[in-house]
Amino acid sequence: MTVKHFLDLHEHPTDVIKHILAVAHTLKRDRSVHKTAMAGKTLAMIFEKPSLRTRVSFDVGMNQLGGHSIMLTSGEIQLKSDTSVPDAARALSRYCDLIMFRTFAHSYLTTLAEHATIPVINGLTNDTHPCQVLADIMAFEEHRGPLDGKIIAWSGDGKDNVCTSWIHAAMHYPFVLKIAAPGAHQPDANILTAARKAGAQIEVTDDPIAAVRGADCVLTDTWVSMGQEADMVARRETFSPYQVNSALMKQAKADAVFMHCLPAYRGQEVTRDVIDGPQSIVWDEAENRLHAQKAVMLWCMGVI
Ligand code: CP
Ligand code: NVA
Repeated sequence: MTVKHFLDLHEHPTDVIKHILAVAHTLKRDRSVHKTAMAGKTLAMIFEKPSLRTRVSFDVGMNQLGGHSIMLTSGEIQLKSDTSVPDAARALSRYCDLIMFRTFAHSYLTTLAEHATIPVINGLTNDTHPCQVLADIMAFEEHRGPLDGKIIAWSGDGKDNVCTSWIHAAMHYPFVLKIAAPGAHQPDANILTAARKAGAQIEVTDDPIAAVRGADCVLTDTWVSMGQEADMVARRETFSPYQVNSALMKQAKADAVFMHCLPAYRGQEVTRDVIDGPQSIVWDEAENRLHAQKAVMLWCMGVI
């Protein structure tokens, strides 16, 4: 039987993504649904980067499904290079039922999945963060209804992992994704071409006002992702015109929502009045990691 990995949004048919999200909404209404589905099952969580939300939401989610999780960091398990990744995959497959992996190079994730005989879930790589975007879509749907026909604006780093997973999401839903990023930090041309070929409606500009004008949702993320700390000063300078502040939010629809995957750096990519203000739905977004990932784990295990 094929192992059901969950590595990226664009790798699955639209009906699978919509099914996972429908189950996630159900799980949010009643956390006890499927409460014994994972009885006797173990999730191994491997973190090569820090985490609060991903770590806690997977752990609590597994617990709510009646299962158990083990938290591993790369240093503790001697995961030192890509050569040790296949062996970790083989060994963990003999003990556990699921693996969640947060790593740097996306190739480490795909290598782990290639050698694992149990499902592997992407808990963030340098390239993508699909579980985050499932939670984002849920939060948007709760506050503003279906994504169809909506404008989703991104201001900041167009190569950011969350932004790339939104590009992948645009292949599944008929919304317009407007990305504002400085020239060198705009999304990779190959990613855009593939997404557009699959039907995604994406516009890229270097003008944050043009991207946000009339938007139903404004998104951003840190300008300095994990692993980019050495370039912090230069990146803050480059991205400063892309800050989401109240002047930029005024360009969006009056009822536009603001989202950010967190952790946020107030005064950098977003101002306090926006992220802590009435248009911000970041706490629903954060909560939804729990429900979305429970649905992903159930899908990987063939329960839903
Ligand atoms: N949004 C997110 O993935 O948060 P953590 O880095 O805290 O897991
Ligand atoms: N782009 C950020 C997301 C954190 C959840 C990072 O990779 O650090």
